[in-house]
Amino acid sequence: MLAVTYSATLQGVKAVSVTVEANSGEKGEPRCILVGLPDAAVKESMDRVKSSLINNGYGGPRTRVTINLAPADLKKEGSSFDLPIALTLLASMGKFQSRELNDYLIAGELGLSGEVRAVRGGLTMALLAKEVGKRGLLLPRASAEEACLVEGVKVYPLDSLAEAIAFFENPDKPDALSKSQSPFRLKSLNRTKIDFSEVKGQANLRRAVEVAVAGRHNIIFIGPPGSGKSMVSKRIPTILPNPTLREHLEILNIYSIGGESQSKKSQDWTRPFRSPHHTISDVGLIGGGVKPGPGEISLAHNGVLFLDELPEFKRSVLEVLRQPLEDGEVTISRSAGKITFPSRFMLVAAMNPCPCGYLGDLQHNCRCSMPQIQKYRSKISGPLLDRIDIHVEAPAVRIQDLQNPLQGESSESIRSRIEACREIQNNRYLKCGISSNSEIPSSLMDEICSLSKDNLEILNRAMSQLSLSARAYGRILKVSRTIADLEQEEKIEKKHLLEAIQYRSLDRNVCN
Ligand SMILES: Nc1ncnc2c1ncn2[C@@H]1O[C@H](COP(=O)(O)OP(=O)(O)OP(=O)(O)O)[C@@H](O)[C@H]1O
Ligand SMILES: [Mg+2]
Ligand SMILES: [Zn+2]
Repeated sequence: MLAVTYSATLQGVKAVSVTVEANSGEKGEPRCILVGLPDAAVKESMDRVKSSLINNGYGGPRTRVTINLAPADLKKEGSSFDLPIALTLLASMGKFQSRELNDYLIAGELGLSGEVRAVRGGLTMALLAKEVGKRGLLLPRASAEEACLVEGVKVYPLDSLAEAIAFFENPDKPDALSKSQSPFRLKSLNRTKIDFSEVKGQANLRRAVEVAVAGRHNIIFIGPPGSGKSMVSKRIPTILPNPTLREHLEILNIYSIGGESQSKKSQDWTRPFRSPHHTISDVGLIGGGVKPGPGEISLAHNGVLFLDELPEFKRSVLEVLRQPLEDGEVTISRSAGKITFPSRFMLVAAMNPCPCGYLGDLQHNCRCSMPQIQKYRSKISGPLLDRIDIHVEAPAVRIQDLQNPLQGESSESIRSRIEACREIQNNRYLKCGISSNSEIPSSLMDEICSLSKDNLEILNRAMSQLSLSARAYGRILKVSRTIADLEQEEKIEKKHLLEAIQYRSLDRNVCN
């Protein structure tokens, strides 16, 4: 007898349909044959399925059974086919009967005793079930807790194989899991203990950070040790604008696919702040690997990627950042085709001006030779710097600032200005498919970032004096736009432009 269930496999951030068919009663030795390009993990599935069937009082097949995962040309990965395979096998052997087996999307890993374990990508499977019009989806409880955040699709949590069989045997369905039962808290605000008010002095640095976050511009801090670069960077999450529901789901989806969501489920889900160590590999940063998962740049999607001590990263690692920085997504080529992960993040980087750290510092002497400085800086290539909109120097904190008993402005107060500035951008870009000034496409530059004749003259002079690239030109215009938006000004004025030009300090002295 033939039985069919509906399941899914992951491709990048998307779930793709897979049909599981089992045909029992075939002639030949009694055994199960799995076909349809299954990877090693899927093949192991048969052992788990057999064991859980035996431990649930069902014998193995008495005839030859072919199990087919279709379409055959789609590479299927992971352990999530255990549950649909077990159900299809039992149905094909006549152990239970249901006309509804194909009406639901089913995924789950089985333990040897028949317990159902979490799978990656529950949330994106819910989106697929909704898209193809399934009546609902059956998922391991932990995965269901993510999936139920998607509106318009019924999600049934399972703890065991027996429960799944009962679901199909019983015409009365249990209640689907509701959003309010999910432990995932898609909170807007980051309730951390740190705050911008702890940062003393450093007015320039604070201003540059505000401009950067307001327009989602990439930013790099250059300064001596102890000047507060790391301190300020770590406080950026406290002034990020609230994510929309869609952004929230995108963030959770990537963590779910990367298998990282479960360990964080009781935490608040805010915009991510990822700060990988400088020893990270290309794959760790970009994604990929044997089981292709998202890298740090995708885990930072809709949030911040913080690269502290930027020149310490391997040059090859920094170079692979270029494409995703430009495109907002990363494409990974593999033997089984290409997969794409989103990677729309704000890059925050910090570095010292030279290997000893004190070049240009008034309190200390720099001990580095010119070739040492050149070598250090050349780790960061021109094209990468071009993609960083704001370069800001972080000088050593002044003693009188440190001793000042008054607190700096709070994160909440800074964030309110940023939210207002983002609102202007959201309204402006409603129909453009972007959300911030940093993403203005070249086709809209003239319209959105137009300059008066005088200001154009200023920019042209700066371009030739600082020998800026065409990309830097665009960055200056976009940053000027954000500065004007922060002041709620429709036109980009001279002061906005001059401030933006001042944020290209590394273009002036970087040696490649
Ligand atoms: N502006 C500031 N206000 C208050 N404290 C500060 C400030 N700047 C630095 N500090 C203090 O100095 C410590 C070191 O700062 P931080 O680690 O941010 O320096 P850094 O610029 O990242 O240095 P390095 O180049 O060595 O990484 C902070 O933990 C904080 O206690
Ligand atoms: Mg630091
Ligand atoms: Zn030095």
